[in-house]
Amino acid sequence: MSGRYIAFEGIDGAGKSTVAEAVAEELRGDGLNVVTVREPGGTPVGEAVREILLHSHDDLVPWAEALLFAASRAQLAAQTVGPLLEAGAWVLTDRSVYSSLAYQGGGRGLGLEIVRSVNAAGLDGVWPDLAVVLELDAQTGLAREEETDRIGREGLELQERVAAAYRELAADDPNVVFVDGSRTILEVVRDSVSVIRERLVESL
Ligand code: ADP
Ligand code: TYD
Repeated sequence: MSGRYIAFEGIDGAGKSTVAEAVAEELRGDGLNVVTVREPGGTPVGEAVREILLHSHDDLVPWAEALLFAASRAQLAAQTVGPLLEAGAWVLTDRSVYSSLAYQGGGRGLGLEIVRSVNAAGLDGVWPDLAVVLELDAQTGLAREEETDRIGREGLELQERVAAAYRELAADDPNVVFVDGSRTILEVVRDSVSVIRERLVESL
């Protein structure tokens, strides 16, 4: 038996961590074994890399940033997500490789395809079955954030490029779906659960 790997995605402040935790509870109610993780981080190496990525005061050049996100993700895939999926768990993640495609590929302009290849090289097939993108305008997202990190502090323009990259990804990839993130938390959770049930649970 193998599990399912579901990513919550979107710009900063879109509601990913709130919604991921609430959706996890709902799916546990369906009798599924659900585990939540977050990126960057989730392993000792990943948490150390997270500190550099989000709180370093030195400038990181775009490729150093992209490779550090990919490194943290490779460690999480090998140590945590891959083994959980093999054991049949449903892994819900707050961000995934799709964040690197949107932020580094689109936002930083490195290119979606090269960022996809570099990440794929480190993931050994551990790739989300579904990415739920919570759609929200960038201004509202940044206003929701209580603490901004190094990347969030760069402001609106980067977030808008990231939002455009998510739209580009959804146009080509049937596993990327959009949910309106501007509604109440209850509504966003309900819409996310229905998309997941429709796409994944009903095919069990
Ligand atoms: P992200 O993980 O995408 O950065 P969070 O889940 O941390 O976003 O949410 C950021 C803030 O916005 C939190 O204070 C959270 O309670 C609030 N929030 C999340 N979803 C909604 C929503 N649909 N409506 C209003 N506030 C929200
Ligand atoms: P996160 O802790 O999810 O922040 P937020 O709650 O603001 O969404 O992510 C931290 C930042 O890292 C966020 O600005 C998005 C960025 N990020 C990337 O640029 N690339 C990536 O691959 C990932 C996982 C995150």
